[in-house]
Amino acid sequence: MSIDFYWRLPTHGCHASIRRGSYDRGDWSPLQPGNVAPGLTAQGEDDGYRYIDHLAEIAKAAELSGFIGGLIPSFPNTDDPWVISPLLARETKTFRFMIAFQPGFLDPVHAARISASLQRATGGRTVFNVITGGGGPSQLWWGDDFAHDDRYGRTTEFLDIFRGVWAGKPFDYDGRFYQVEGEQLSDLLSREEVPEIWFSGSSEAALQSAAKHADYYLSWLEPYDQLTDKFARVKERTAQLGGEQKCAIRVDLVARPTEEEAWRDIRIGFENVSDATRAQWRGQPTDSVGAARQSALKPTEAKRWDDLIVGKNLWGGFNLLRGGPALGIVGSYEQCAEQLDELIQRGADAFILAGTPHLEEAWRIGEEVLPLLGRTAATTQNLLEAAE
Ligand SMILES: Cc1cc2nc3c(=O)[nH]c(=O)nc-3n(C[C@H](O)[C@H](O)[C@H](O)COP(=O)(O)O)c2cc1C
Repeated sequence: MSIDFYWRLPTHGCHASIRRGSYDRGDWSPLQPGNVAPGLTAQGEDDGYRYIDHLAEIAKAAELSGFIGGLIPSFPNTDDPWVISPLLARETKTFRFMIAFQPGFLDPVHAARISASLQRATGGRTVFNVITGGGGPSQLWWGDDFAHDDRYGRTTEFLDIFRGVWAGKPFDYDGRFYQVEGEQLSDLLSREEVPEIWFSGSSEAALQSAAKHADYYLSWLEPYDQLTDKFARVKERTAQLGGEQKCAIRVDLVARPTEEEAWRDIRIGFENVSDATRAQWRGQPTDSVGAARQSALKPTEAKRWDDLIVGKNLWGGFNLLRGGPALGIVGSYEQCAEQLDELIQRGADAFILAGTPHLEEAWRIGEEVLPLLGRTAATTQNLLEAAE
């Protein structure tokens, strides 16, 4: 059994350190001395180093340090993953690009054609994170006011067609959201592999859609028993449809030579969180079940950094330091590897890891944490059982 490790490519900017809140990599904050991509020359002018150049450095570092590919998130404040991916593909050799996208905003037949072209151009390195949107202001930003379960209905139909037109013969479909008659990809394009589909969302509607179409069901980190439960539910649904579901986890790590150093960085980071960020601690309104499950992990107030320790080597305040989900892993290199081993034992088949700053942490985690995996009794037992 092999476990695939992806790295996150921060299309929403990056910080030079987890200890400081400001986005000084990329142009999400005002351009000032110390910024990277773009930065300033000695004369105070834009140095011409674009953010895509920085992402390329991260992709190359992750590729060389043992990651199979990178997740390219998609939010209103990010660059577009469909555009970023082929640019980065030209800078790497085998690195896969996990494009996050909301199916509702694309035509499924055209999306199949774009994807097949990407597969052809990159030697089959395209992977998808199919997202269905969390409602609230960020969904309206896209002009999408569909209700939660309708969005999943639309996603399922989109993927029915996406796969259908790839099958090498004319395809008809008469759905609630889409109708298609006699559509198919050209012979040349339909020879390409359909990209692997990773699917995120924690609601019942999401699990149902995932069971039909996901190669990997993807979750943020949650308390381990809760996560094991969710994985069991999605695996059961897929089995009812005659398939086998793989599961994956997206998680941030703060991995340091010693546990004390790791918690020290968390403490300093927490102390540097601005009042404005603290005020938004509970996040924007959303109908996302996954986001609600993350919110439920947050105490109503976080006065001290250690109020947010929710388990051994688990910290629930990551959203304060860099946005996104709350829970992440903090510890020595060995402890971080042990936590990943435990998650493998509990059913994780793959991971998307992240750390701030993404460039340096790709090297660190690739070189210091990944080689320690599989040494704990839990994983060794798991691997032996899988081999039987
Ligand atoms: C690992 C992971 C990554 C996600 N990435 C994105 C993203 O890049 N953009 C986005 O809009 N939503 C993203 N989401 C949100 C979900 O895809 C989904 O739309 C949201 O959780 C609402 O669905 P739910 O109510 O079924 O949980 C992500 C979710 C997970 C678990």
